[in-house]
Amino acid sequence: MAEVRFTEKTRAILEEYERCKGGFQPLPIALTKAHNATLWDVEGNRYIDFLSFFAVANMGHAHPKIVEAACTATRDCPMANTAFVNPSYARLASKIKEILGYDSIVCMCTGADSTDTATKIARKWGYKVKGIPSGKAVVLTASACYHGITISTHSMSSAPEDVFGPYVPLVGPVSPSGVVVEYGDIQSLKNALEKDHETIAAFMVEPIQGSAGIVDPPEGYLKQAYDLCKQYSVLFIADEVQTGLGRTGELLDSWRSGVKPDLVCLGKALAGGVAPLSAVCGNNDVMDVIEGGDIGSTMAANPPATAAAVAALEVLVEERIAEQSKKKGKLLRELLKAENLAQISGFSGAGMLCAAILNPEYVTSRFNSIRLRRLCAKRGLMVSSASGGTRVRICPPPTIEENLLAEGVKIFAQCVRDLESLDDPIL
Ligand SMILES: Cc1ncc(COP(=O)(O)O)c(C=O)c1O
Repeated sequence: MAEVRFTEKTRAILEEYERCKGGFQPLPIALTKAHNATLWDVEGNRYIDFLSFFAVANMGHAHPKIVEAACTATRDCPMANTAFVNPSYARLASKIKEILGYDSIVCMCTGADSTDTATKIARKWGYKVKGIPSGKAVVLTASACYHGITISTHSMSSAPEDVFGPYVPLVGPVSPSGVVVEYGDIQSLKNALEKDHETIAAFMVEPIQGSAGIVDPPEGYLKQAYDLCKQYSVLFIADEVQTGLGRTGELLDSWRSGVKPDLVCLGKALAGGVAPLSAVCGNNDVMDVIEGGDIGSTMAANPPATAAAVAALEVLVEERIAEQSKKKGKLLRELLKAENLAQISGFSGAGMLCAAILNPEYVTSRFNSIRLRRLCAKRGLMVSSASGGTRVRICPPPTIEENLLAEGVKIFAQCVRDLESLDDPIL
C-alpha cells in the first residue's frame, strides 16, 4: 500500500517545532494545504481527512464562500471589537435566530471560552433569577465530560490531575452532597437534583461525549435529563461545541432527542474552520442577565471571524450539511461493516461523528488506536485515537466526496489488518 514520504524539509520544520509546547500530541506531519476533505503536507503528500480537526471542518476545508467572506472582512476592516458595533456580529446573531431559534448570542473565541461563559451566565441566573444564596451556585456536569482545558473548564471534568489545582469550586460531576452524576445514568442525575436542586443552577452535558471517544448516551437520556432540569428549575446547557452545526445529522444534536436546551455552546465549526469563534446561544429570559462588562474578550466577535461564521451558517443551510452528514454517515458505517473486520466490535456516534470500537479481544500494545492512527497517517489517512487506544475517531467532513470516503475506508481496513505485524515509526 502506498506510503507518504518525508525529507529534510519536514525534518527542518520539526526541529523548529521543538520550541512549540503544548497541543495534542501532534503527528510529525507538517500540513500546509487543505481543500474540502483532502490535506497536503509540506512534501506534497496527500491525506484523506477522516478527522476534520476534531469536528471543525463541517463545511469542508477552505470552503471558497467562507474563505472569501473572511478575506473580504480582513481587507476591509480586520478589527472592530465589542467596544464598537461590528455589523457582521449583528448579522450572525440574526442568522442564529433564523436557523436555531435563539433570541441572542454572546461570542468568544474558543470552545472552552463558550463553556466557561455558559457557566458564568448560569451562575448569575442562579443568583438573580432562581434565588440561590450568594457563593453557592453549582454547575453540574457528567462523568468523563470534556468542556475544555482551561482552569475553569478543567475543573468541570471528572478527575482533573492535581498538578493544576486548586480548581474552581462548585463545578463538575459531583453534587454538593456527594452524588456522582454518571453520563448516561439518569438515576444519578435524579439523585443529585433531588438532594441538591436548591443550589444547582445548571446541568451542562454533551449530547454525545466527543473527546471521551464518541460515547452515546442511552436512548431517551437527553430528554429525561432535560425534563428533570425543568422539574427542578435548573438550566439545561448543551455543550454542542463538537456535536453541533450539522455534524450528527441535525443542526443541533439535541434536536435528535427533541430537546431545545436553555443554553447552547458552539465552537469548532461555527466560523467554518476559517477563524476561531465560539458562542453561547440562548433566549432572553436567561441571556438578559448579561450586563455590560460581564463577558467579552479583546478579540471576540472580530469581523473576519463573524463574517466567516455568517457565510458558514449560509453554507450549512444551502448545502444541507446536516443531511449530508446523515447520508454519508450511513454510507461510512455500511462501507466499514462490509470490510468484516473482526478487530472492530461496533460503531458509535451519529452522522459524521463516528468511532470504531476496537474489539477488546484484539487490543494489545501492538494493536490499539494509538498505533493505528500512526499507520493510517503513514498511508495517507487522518483518523484519531480515543479512550486509551480502544476507539478510533472517524469524523470526515460531511462534504467529503463519496469516492474519497470509499478510498479512506479501504486504507483504514487494510491498516487494521496489517497493524499487528508492523513496526511503524512515521518518520
Ligand atoms: C464538547 C467540547 N466542549 C468544549 C471543547 C473545547 O473547545 P476548544 O478546544 O476550542 O477550547 C471541546 C473540544 O474538543 C469539546 O469537544
